[in-house]
Amino acid sequence: MRTLEVNAKPDAASSFNLRHCIEASIFACLLLATLSGCDVERRKSDAELGLNPQQVSGRKIYDNYCDRCHRPYSTKGKKGPGLKGLFQHQYLPKTGLPANDERVVDIIRNGRPDMPGYSQVLTSQDIQDLLAYLHTL
Ligand code: HEC
Repeated sequence: MRTLEVNAKPDAASSFNLRHCIEASIFACLLLATLSGCDVERRKSDAELGLNPQQVSGRKIYDNYCDRCHRPYSTKGKKGPGLKGLFQHQYLPKTGLPANDERVVDIIRNGRPDMPGYSQVLTSQDIQDLLAYLHTL
């Protein structure tokens, strides 16, 4: 009860507001730090990534068909595994298949459990462009 009376005084109330203000700023900083961590990282332009025209075309296909399940610049999973560094290792991390064009094209054409196949959707040219882009990850 005593505290309530103190807070009711005008000058106590303003210091109370100041505390709120500081708390809000700390919260905002933490929020910003979390957001800028990875998920909401600014999207780089094609030029910033140094993509050639074929890779740019592959990136568009990626955005349309793959991005909803796979993060391109992170290994963190969405519905499917993140594809950062896809061709950097001998084997694909999730399926354990060899990380080469043949296997990756198979996956794109035929799909996987919980991943649709794109043989009816993408032309072989589309798949070549997509591969060119995937090699940049
Ligand atoms: C509906 C969600 C979904 C979409 C859309 C999707 N995928 Fe997948 N993808 C998955 C899942 C889930 C897996 C893991 C499959 C498994 O465990 O065998 C996967 C696996 C993969 C793998 C193997 C990764 C590894 O580490 O073994 C590759 C490569 C891949 N996807 C590429 C693509 C590409 C390229 C596209 C766009 C043409 C695409 N995916 C679209 C869900 C999706």
